[in-house]
Amino acid sequence: MSDQNIYDNEAFFEGYMKLRNNPSAANDIVEKPALFSLCPDLTDKKVLDLGCGYGENCREFSKSGASKVVGTDISEKMLSLAKKENILKNVSFIKMSMSDLSSLDGKFNVVFSSLAVHYIEDFDKLLTEIYRLLDENGLLIFSQEHPLTTALQKEPRWTKDSEGDILHYNLSDYSIPGIRTSTWIVDGVIKYHRSFSSIINSLSAAGFIIEKMLEPLPGTDIMEKYPSYKKYYHKPDFLLIRARKIAV
Ligand SMILES: C[S@@+](CC[C@H](N)C(=O)[O-])C[C@H]1O[C@@H](n2cnc3c(N)ncnc32)[C@H](O)[C@@H]1O
Repeated sequence: MSDQNIYDNEAFFEGYMKLRNNPSAANDIVEKPALFSLCPDLTDKKVLDLGCGYGENCREFSKSGASKVVGTDISEKMLSLAKKENILKNVSFIKMSMSDLSSLDGKFNVVFSSLAVHYIEDFDKLLTEIYRLLDENGLLIFSQEHPLTTALQKEPRWTKDSEGDILHYNLSDYSIPGIRTSTWIVDGVIKYHRSFSSIINSLSAAGFIIEKMLEPLPGTDIMEKYPSYKKYYHKPDFLLIRARKIAV
């Protein structure tokens, strides 16, 4: 099956950009600070950003001294915004699905990906290509929706009390891997669920050792400011991994 390109759907793109422009967006408050904490010193490093979106991370890599930054994405709309807002010296953007990386040449010190790999059905194939594109000892640093999040196939996701406060998360279908079709901004958004052990075993089989994993929580100051973030006490939203290529 070919990859879905939901970010080029007009209504989805508009809704997604509205979410991202919200100052309390989880991307900015929870996910990105944790993901960047996994990055090495990028001075003179070559960085590939898979599913780069509108390129704000590519801009950061360039500002951090990377010698070359390549961002790839399947979405024309995302890339045209990236080229307008985040094109800097040494940064280039390529329209390409993560499923088609075999046509990409070059070697990179760091392959980075923020919240995009759960859109890919064949994770093993993706990891084989990332391994090929990395220099010896290169790093793969990525975040994805947490497996506890991707697992669900039905609503409601949370059980709440009569006041509307969350009591617990309604985990189900965790051990059924594969496609998930949900309503997120629009109907019919396709993502793929993989269990925690399957993600780790795929990384290991592809020739990576895991150096660090994070399931970040917002700080207590953030939870005070935005009480809805207290739901993270029950379930993290993101899984972040730094893995290093080893010789096999
Ligand atoms: C949640 S957004 C994250 C964007 C960016 N990484 C960021 O952190 O701002 C997910 C991105 O993955 C891209 N994407 C989804 N499926 C893809 C695929 N098969 N190949 C490449 N990119 C894909 C989308 O177009 C979108 O830009």
